[in-house]
Amino acid sequence: MTLLTDKKIILGVTGSIAAYKSVELASKLTQAGALVDVIMTDAATKFVAPLTFQSVTGRKAFTDLWGDEAHVIHVGLGESADVLVIAPATANTMAKIAHGLADDLLSVTALAARCPILIAPAMDGGMYAHPATQSNEKILRARGIIFVGPAEGRMASGLSGKGRMVEPQELLGHIRYTLSRGGAFANKKVVVTAGGTQEDIDPVRFISNHSSGKQGFAVAQAALDRGADVTLITAPTNQIAPIGVNLINVRSADDMGDAVLRAVADAEVLIMAAAVADFKPEASAEQKIKRGAITTYQLQLTKTIDILSAVAEQKEKTGKPKIVVGFAAETQNLIDNAREKVLKKKLSLIVANDVSAKDAGFFVDTNRVTIIDAGGGAQTLPLMSKAEVAEAVCERVERLLS
Ligand code: CTP
Repeated sequence: MTLLTDKKIILGVTGSIAAYKSVELASKLTQAGALVDVIMTDAATKFVAPLTFQSVTGRKAFTDLWGDEAHVIHVGLGESADVLVIAPATANTMAKIAHGLADDLLSVTALAARCPILIAPAMDGGMYAHPATQSNEKILRARGIIFVGPAEGRMASGLSGKGRMVEPQELLGHIRYTLSRGGAFANKKVVVTAGGTQEDIDPVRFISNHSSGKQGFAVAQAALDRGADVTLITAPTNQIAPIGVNLINVRSADDMGDAVLRAVADAEVLIMAAAVADFKPEASAEQKIKRGAITTYQLQLTKTIDILSAVAEQKEKTGKPKIVVGFAAETQNLIDNAREKVLKKKLSLIVANDVSAKDAGFFVDTNRVTIIDAGGGAQTLPLMSKAEVAEAVCERVERLLS
């Protein structure tokens, strides 16, 4: 079960060349477990065939060929949907919905809908900038309709400007965020850290580790999916931040420490998935260290801040954050070392993983972890994706919060 499992999503598709991107969106949503009902305007069917959508969703794609079921469709779909997404939305469809016109199945459904509505406009830059469209957008926004995009870039007309439909992946993030609000972590601030910190030796070199940030970013997504307000404090990674996080970029352990201590002051939960350097160069050289005639080079290291211990100290005074979860990357004596860390760092839970295993840890999308609680109780999970590990961790946090 994920956030999107069995969610009823109506995908309205209107007449823009960007309609082909919606096929990918429909496919991604379906793969994530959602039930996607597509409603196409007449103009949309000129760009993409209904059969294309039917093939990726496995469900009927509705068109304006009003059949006997039309009435049932618009009321039924509109009232039972979890979200209505109109992507791409033309200026014409925006205008119709803004003014309550209902002359095709999509605009009728929009009028009947009682769920959140997301609109991803797609049109020529001039049309989007036109006062009529701008004023329609204002009306729709005032009614609580969520706009995603349009993005800047090259458009089908060959011109550049603001009017491109956003990419399906981004839209998916917004849909996910919208569906998640009101979940078990609603109104709770969750701080998550990710990535491997970088400790400068000189302006061009640093000490770091193999952390990819994947596990931390997955935890941030899982907390978002439960409706949390998520602050993600990350060292440099190649990961794309989930839509809806408050992203704070840092590099060194010291910077991460400052950011974490500030962020947890009003947070319920801290999940420290970052691989924080334990040592840093005593001083970072101001200029690049030259190779010159040097044959050996001694780098003097000093300890960095232990962020979790500093958090424990702050928590004693403020009571925040209520729940603190650490991660333990070990290469030997996994459980014993992790049990020791839970106590030493005063954690609610620690997620221990053996990073020497080939199918778990740094370089892969899977992980094999044992979750240990403050009493030493251990829950060993089978090999699973990092997203599933993130779900399991948030599930445990949810139990502690309630
Ligand atoms: N951690 C931290 N500050 C550090 C180092 C680690 O807050 N300077 C956090 C990590 O984010 C992780 C947990 O502490 O959640 C355990 O990290 P790990 O590297 O396994 O433990 P260490 O404290 O470094 O202990 P050891 O070197 O003995 O393994």
